[in-house]
Amino acid sequence: MEVYSKKQQIISAINALRHKNQTLGLVPTMGALHRGHLQLVKKALENNNMVVVSIFVNPTQFDNKEDLEKYPRTLEKDVALLKTVNKTNILVYAPTVDDMYDGLTVSQKFDFDGLEFEMEGKFRNGHFDGVGTIVKRFFEIIKPNNAYFGEKDFQQLAIIKKLVEKHNIPVNIVGCKIHREVNGLAMSSRNTRLKPEHKAEAPFIYKTLKTAKQHFGIKSANKVTEWVEKRFAKNDLLQLEYFIIADAKTLKPIKRKSNKKTYRAFIAVYADDIRLIDNIALN
Ligand code: PAJ
Repeated sequence: MEVYSKKQQIISAINALRHKNQTLGLVPTMGALHRGHLQLVKKALENNNMVVVSIFVNPTQFDNKEDLEKYPRTLEKDVALLKTVNKTNILVYAPTVDDMYDGLTVSQKFDFDGLEFEMEGKFRNGHFDGVGTIVKRFFEIIKPNNAYFGEKDFQQLAIIKKLVEKHNIPVNIVGCKIHREVNGLAMSSRNTRLKPEHKAEAPFIYKTLKTAKQHFGIKSANKVTEWVEKRFAKNDLLQLEYFIIADAKTLKPIKRKSNKKTYRAFIAVYADDIRLIDNIALN
């Protein structure tokens, strides 16, 4: 398995393959790979001849310097894990910050028709401009036929769909289901940083989402939200940042329940300084 760190190298490697009429899938990641990421890679391998997995901790999408510094970087382990999936059809692109940003580490500004102002956009300043900048750049370099994103970051997935639509980028965006631990905790690279007591408590997040879904069948969105907020107020280990029931298309908070619309509940929680997010389809 080749690991490329320069754009020109990966571009040449891809061009050699493209001549053979092969389809190319892209799975963008920030590394510290886990089984959730591998799910995306497996799906990409099912639908494409070759798959590029990019591994790049993108500085412009972090609003918190400490979170960026502490983000796990485990390239060798990541490559070993990818080899357990497939040794011949995966190319790894692990560029440096300079290779991606040419000395100017700033984001482009985007208009995602309002999707960027909800939830994560409210709590993580500039986050989606950073994501949009780097993903657009990956699309331009790799020119994949298909690109794979997890519903774990549901708002990000919606924003990437909007990015390709608004910028006429010829790539098919494929959303993939959330992969969970047996105890329900959504897999995340940040989970490795949890202290044992927080790790033990973290399944509380998905348990709450599942019960909220049941309540949503019979109660108003406000009542469900109040119930979740009360439940977290009693939890000493996990701090709720937000719980929001939103329209799954516009991501705007629900006003009045309509059975013509689909809804999703979104949650962000702090365990110490580690921020965990999750979401669930409600209907
Ligand atoms: P990262 O957090 O590494 O996630 C890479 C991809 O894996 C994303 O599409 C994310 O939604 C998906 N993913 C992570 N955990 C998952 C899980 N438990 N189940 C299903 N999919 C999961 O998201 C990013 O990186 C970055 O923002 C990126 C898109 C690479 C841009 O820098």
